[in-house]
Amino acid sequence: MVGPLSESESPLGPDWPLKDEDVRVALLAAYADGSWGKYHGPHVARLEEELSHYFEAPHALTCASGTIAVEIALRSLNLPEGSEVLLAAYDFAGNFRAIQAAGLRPALVDIEANRWRIDVAEIEAAITPETRGIVVSHLHGDLADMPAVMEIAQRRQLQVVEDACQSPGAIIDGRKAGSWGDVGTLSFGGSKLLTSGRGGAVITSRADLQQRARVYCERGNHAFPLSELQSAVLLPQLAKLDARNDQRRKAVSQFREAMRDSAGWISPPPSDGYSVYYKVGWTLADPATRAAVCTQLQASGVAIAAGFRGFAKRPAAWCRKVGDLSQARRAAEGTITLHHPVLLGNEAELAQAVGVVRQVAGG
Ligand SMILES: Cc1ncc(COP(=O)(O)O)c(C=O)c1O
Repeated sequence: MVGPLSESESPLGPDWPLKDEDVRVALLAAYADGSWGKYHGPHVARLEEELSHYFEAPHALTCASGTIAVEIALRSLNLPEGSEVLLAAYDFAGNFRAIQAAGLRPALVDIEANRWRIDVAEIEAAITPETRGIVVSHLHGDLADMPAVMEIAQRRQLQVVEDACQSPGAIIDGRKAGSWGDVGTLSFGGSKLLTSGRGGAVITSRADLQQRARVYCERGNHAFPLSELQSAVLLPQLAKLDARNDQRRKAVSQFREAMRDSAGWISPPPSDGYSVYYKVGWTLADPATRAAVCTQLQASGVAIAAGFRGFAKRPAAWCRKVGDLSQARRAAEGTITLHHPVLLGNEAELAQAVGVVRQVAGG
């Protein structure tokens, strides 16, 4: 590891959310027409329409967060109480909780080595008579193998929640991530690629799931709504999502290229699909260096942090564990992620960030 780098006063790359003129105009328009303070108006319905169009899924239902979107998605499946749902042992913590909250039981499956996607080879053997569903997430720029997941799910009659909270706009085999599963989820949280501070959505092609999700959300009133104002600021961002994803992908190529010889930082293999980057992941060959790497990079203005803690250590009373979950354990100890705003910096900012990361990685 290199010596201390000079202290930086502000993060490299733009502040998030971006100062977007179209968002400012949307905010002012929502002020002018009063929709900012109304229960109902045009923006939620329009956003749901545009999401449905963008994801080529007939139904989109907005809600209060990605976390509740996963729970709503699970509830929409109407699985028998207490049945098992497969989940990668490395995933967003809220997904474990969402399975429990929906009255179901997580069964943990390992991920592939040096990446973050569920290991399809482990899924089939993990299925028991109690298993009815599976939650599959696209994490850290990696893409799950959805064609293979769906093939198994259809053959073994599992229902699939596809969590695209980190990957709006990613494409797998010609289809948008989030539109493969029986039901997909999105997040509009404050750090996400599409942001309204808080928010989420479920998307599906199945009218029965949409109907059940809607009934669960409405409960005679809207229990977990996205507001008109939140929807108003998301609309202009959705229109620019593809262009920004392209820009972020180019920046990630620069990072990966610069890090090619850094043996300590393992990049996942290039994916077959079109990955998008919310948090760009690497696996550290030596997890013991992670805290120091994060501290050093953060002090230099690079927004790097440890990945998820994973579930391999969760008590056996809460879940079933399939195999030793060794790759998930390794990912929980050795993953670092770079937050996306740095990817939208200008050429000079990006070159600086790439240089700093490369220096710390010792490439
Ligand atoms: C994979 C994944 N699923 C779900 C969520 C939850 O989204 P939210 O923060 O909007 O609740 C997140 C948030 O980071 C996530 O990364």
